[in-house]
Amino acid sequence: MEQEKIKKRKIMLIGTGFVGMSFAYTMLNERGIDEMVLVDVNTDKAEGEAMDLNDGLVYANSKMKIKAGSYEEDAADTDVCVLTAGAAQKPGQSRLELVKINANITKGVCESLKANGFHGILLVANNPADIMTYVAWKTIGLPQNQVIGSGTVLDTARLRHSLSRFLGFADSNIHAYIMGEHGDSSFVPWIHTYIGCKSLLEYLDENNISLQELQDIYIEVRDKAYAIIERKKATYYGIGYALKRIVDAILNNEHCILPVSSYQNGEYNRSGLFIGTPSVVGSNGIERIMALPLNENDQNRFNASFDTLEKTIRDNLG
Ligand code: LAC
Repeated sequence: MEQEKIKKRKIMLIGTGFVGMSFAYTMLNERGIDEMVLVDVNTDKAEGEAMDLNDGLVYANSKMKIKAGSYEEDAADTDVCVLTAGAAQKPGQSRLELVKINANITKGVCESLKANGFHGILLVANNPADIMTYVAWKTIGLPQNQVIGSGTVLDTARLRHSLSRFLGFADSNIHAYIMGEHGDSSFVPWIHTYIGCKSLLEYLDENNISLQELQDIYIEVRDKAYAIIERKKATYYGIGYALKRIVDAILNNEHCILPVSSYQNGEYNRSGLFIGTPSVVGSNGIERIMALPLNENDQNRFNASFDTLEKTIRDNLG
């Protein structure tokens, strides 16, 4: 009997700019991936990046094959594709202002993936990420659960990091999520935040900390990308690791809850777009959205964020 071959695990990175290569670099210590393919319109760049990454493999944990590739050769047997290609924010520019240029790039990439038989999980991270995820889904023709946006996974990491230092607990014990747009209209449903097994709001009351202090921390987190871009012209290490976190959850079938940008089917009384909501992520992509009971204030914030995305699509993409 022919020996059953172990399924090769293959990822494709589209876009070898700072974000894409920061993600790729995090994967060098990842065991259990057989191949990582780099695709870029600038084929020399993709080849150079693959050559450079290969030099690190000897001292890294991974034994994966890394190469520059193409849709034609590599799309059909790719398990997870990470889309980072696109223009990045300039100092002071909002993510939403990139919608037109990056929608065209996203459409072209997804048409190529579709034409070459890609049928895996697509993770979208170019900005404005929630709208690019919607454009990708409309173009590629995959089921909703197989198209995921990076959502507010990075925003949530920023929040947990800041709360951890402010409150003095390990960030792994800070159970707080940012929801909504990966952008200026996001929000924190504070009633659903915990320090370990203790309600954060209860902890605030018992320790004379005002919610306004936490809300101020959230505002700083919401605007952190602008502050980083002012100083170093781009962000990439944080999003690189956020993408690794999501790809690990998919490849390892973790069933873990991450605030990725998921297709809404009314779990928060709105439907038809992708937006950051805590979702169960595994090998089939989005297994389900964890619907939280929002109070009136948080529902209004969710609606405002959803409306922002809806209006931006209507005004710019027809
Ligand atoms: C940021 C980019 C990834 O928030 O949108 O850093």
